[in-house]
Amino acid sequence: MAERQFHPDTPELRAEWDGFAWTEANAKAAAEIVARYPAGRQASASIPFLDLAQRQVGAMTDTQGWLPIPVIEFVARELDMPPVRVMEVASFYTMFNLAPVGKFHVQVCGTTPCMLRGSDDVLSACFKRGMKKGHTTEDGLFTLTEVECLGACANAPMVQINDDNYEDLTEDSMGKILDALAAGQTPKPGPQVDRTTSCPEGGPTTLKKMAERNYDYRGQW
Ligand code: FES
Repeated sequence: MAERQFHPDTPELRAEWDGFAWTEANAKAAAEIVARYPAGRQASASIPFLDLAQRQVGAMTDTQGWLPIPVIEFVARELDMPPVRVMEVASFYTMFNLAPVGKFHVQVCGTTPCMLRGSDDVLSACFKRGMKKGHTTEDGLFTLTEVECLGACANAPMVQINDDNYEDLTEDSMGKILDALAAGQTPKPGPQVDRTTSCPEGGPTTLKKMAERNYDYRGQW
């Protein structure tokens, strides 16, 4: 499980982030988000606002993004909420990074289905490339976090890297994905074996005619 502690609130942090404000594009996006909710219910926008803020920090720092305390306070001001209420939301959801991360946030699922299907091999590929759980590599490229189930158990073992899932992994395929990212390439997300989403490997094994067209089997029942 990822460590869920806020990065220390220091004068240096304040100097860097106290002046945080939306970019022009994000100010427009924020206005659209808050308009989805009835008047007086703007606290409902705290999750999308934190996500927007984290992405803006990511764009500013060339990382996946994180939430410095002054940025959380900015979100609280925007939504007219006590900062501690927004901090509660940020610290509950692991999609929000409470400390700086690298350009690629490698979140390896270590819950039982992924563990039984080889998450140790996935971690091994990360360790061989200098990653340590809870740390960012010295070149700032990768942060490694072990997380709980990410909801893709049918394609275990899997990993989430920034906004993409990579599934049906082996140590070899995980290594290739990391090497491609390090080389500035864009590896194909999704299953790393020959299947579409969670369909059988190699193609359908039942109701095969449905794969070609909307075949009506009802007359054969
Ligand atoms: S156990 Fe890994 S995605 Fe569910």
